[in-house]
Parts: sequence; structure tokens; C-alpha cells
Amino acid sequence: MGAVERTLVLLKPDAVARGLSGRILQRFEEAGLKVVGTKMVRMDADLARKHYFDLEERFGKSVFDVTATFMQSGPVIALVLEGVEAVANVRRLVGSTFPNLSAPGTIRGDFAHTSKAYTEAKHTVAANLIHASGNVEEAKYEVDLWFDGAELFEYPSAAERFLF
Ligand code: PPS
Repeated sequence: MGAVERTLVLLKPDAVARGLSGRILQRFEEAGLKVVGTKMVRMDADLARKHYFDLEERFGKSVFDVTATFMQSGPVIALVLEGVEAVANVRRLVGSTFPNLSAPGTIRGDFAHTSKAYTEAKHTVAANLIHASGNVEEAKYEVDLWFDGAELFEYPSAAERFLF
């Protein structure tokens, strides 16, 4: 069995505004991910800078600007999900960064398809419903950035003996 990991998921302003939070959370729960932390947050410029500290270097300034601006445009729901190889498994469930390339059955493939930001800003996509940590190191950094230890919980889940 792989390692039990924790990963950060953000339900972005488009997911919250479209009333998809419950359905998206259900997808993670049904896949066996355990919610160990959750809160609604309005991202500010400081948090955006810390969360997306390497985005400009990886994709350029316009990608950072569009993403950081969009993420501050409305509240997000932050989740810490726990499970076996949770980081990679959550990314698989979420689908491709570009919703129009996401396979059916993934969350973005089923609910996002394309986005206003994508068409308006020419290949820059921000309204893709979900952020999910990209790798284990990033997940550790992001969980620590978004949550205090006291906001994370350990509890037995009924499904654990079958799923973990
Ligand atoms: S990747 O390609 O999987 O490494 O990218 P990802 O980890 O999903 O992080 C990229 C974040 O930047 C936003 N964004 C873009 N990425 C790639 N190309 C373009 N043009 C672009 N425009 C915006 C993308 O929505 C990701 O945001 P988060 O919040 O991390 O999901």
C-alpha cells in the first residue's frame, strides 16, 4: 500500500458561485478521500503571492496575474483531504488544468469544459473550479500555509477499513 498523504484542495470562486461545492466534495468523499480540514476563505494579495510563489517563474507574469486576481474575486473553500497517495489521486480525479482538455469522468471534464477566462485571456485559464496540490512537497507547503495544526482533525472513518 502507498503512503497516506494529505493534500490541499481549493474550491475556486467559480465552483462556489456556481453552487457546485457540495457536488465536488461528494466526488472526493465517494472516491474514499477523508476530509481532515475545511474552511471558507477570501484570499488576499499576500496569501495569493505565497500560494502562487512560483507561478510567474513557471508560466509567466500574465498567468500569475490572471490566476491571483481571479482567486481573490470571491470566497474559496479550502479543504485538506487525506488518503493513500492522496496528492496524485486527487489530481487524477480533478482532471487537466485546461478544462476543455479534461476527460469525461474527471471533475473538470464533467463540470468545467471551458471558461470565460480561458477565451478572454487567450490560453490563460483560471476558472477551472479546483486547485489541487501538484506534488507531495507542494502539498506539505500548501497545507501549512492554509491551515493551523489545530484546524486539522484526526478521527476514525467508517469506510477506512475497506478503503485504506
Ligand atoms: S500544471 O500544468 O499541471 O503544472 O499546472 P498546475 O499545477 O495546474 O498550476 C497552474 C496554475 O496556473 C493556472 N493557470 C495556468 N496554468 C498553465 N497555463 C496557463 N496558461 C495558465 N493560466 C492559469 C492554473 O489554473 C493553475 O492554477 P491552480 O490554482 O494551481 O489550479
